[in-house]
Amino acid sequence: MGNPFSIEDIKQGSTLLDIGCGAGFDLFIASKLTGPGGQVYGIDLTQEMIDRAQKNIKKLDTTNITIKHVDSEKIPFKDNMFDVVISNGVINLSPCKQDLFQEIKRVLKPGGRLQFADIVAENELPSNLTGSLEAWAQ
Ligand SMILES: C[S@@+](CC[C@H](N)C(=O)[O-])C[C@H]1O[C@@H](n2cnc3c(N)ncnc32)[C@H](O)[C@@H]1O
Repeated sequence: MGNPFSIEDIKQGSTLLDIGCGAGFDLFIASKLTGPGGQVYGIDLTQEMIDRAQKNIKKLDTTNITIKHVDSEKIPFKDNMFDVVISNGVINLSPCKQDLFQEIKRVLKPGGRLQFADIVAENELPSNLTGSLEAWAQ
């Protein structure tokens, strides 16, 4: 979708969460940027993508990545845990963005940052699209 890392540098030693990590490409980059002293966590709603990410991560010489399957938008981590939350092409998929943003705020440390790339609608969408799950998925 985009490059959430271009928004601001990721400091070595950071604790970072990738929401909707997919097959794990951004986890790999985050792992390099945070370095061995950092911790990188990825969550995804789809077990198939978790399996792909686990498989891809196993091929890397890194030990600072943890991946978790989630079955809701509740983020399975404690309050004030992350220096940075990233997301790449996922927030637009959330049916309740306000709840997701509240969860992101909860897990971010005070002064922590959300860096995300996504798509936005610039105009009001017609109701035949906003009311259609099929259109949502497309
Ligand atoms: C467009 S893909 C982006 C994947 C990855 N971020 C990338 O850039 O390659 C969207 C991913 O988000 C996941 N997803 C959608 N809604 C989610 C949510 N609320 N929480 C976690 N993952 C979610 C999907 O399962 C899918 O793997």
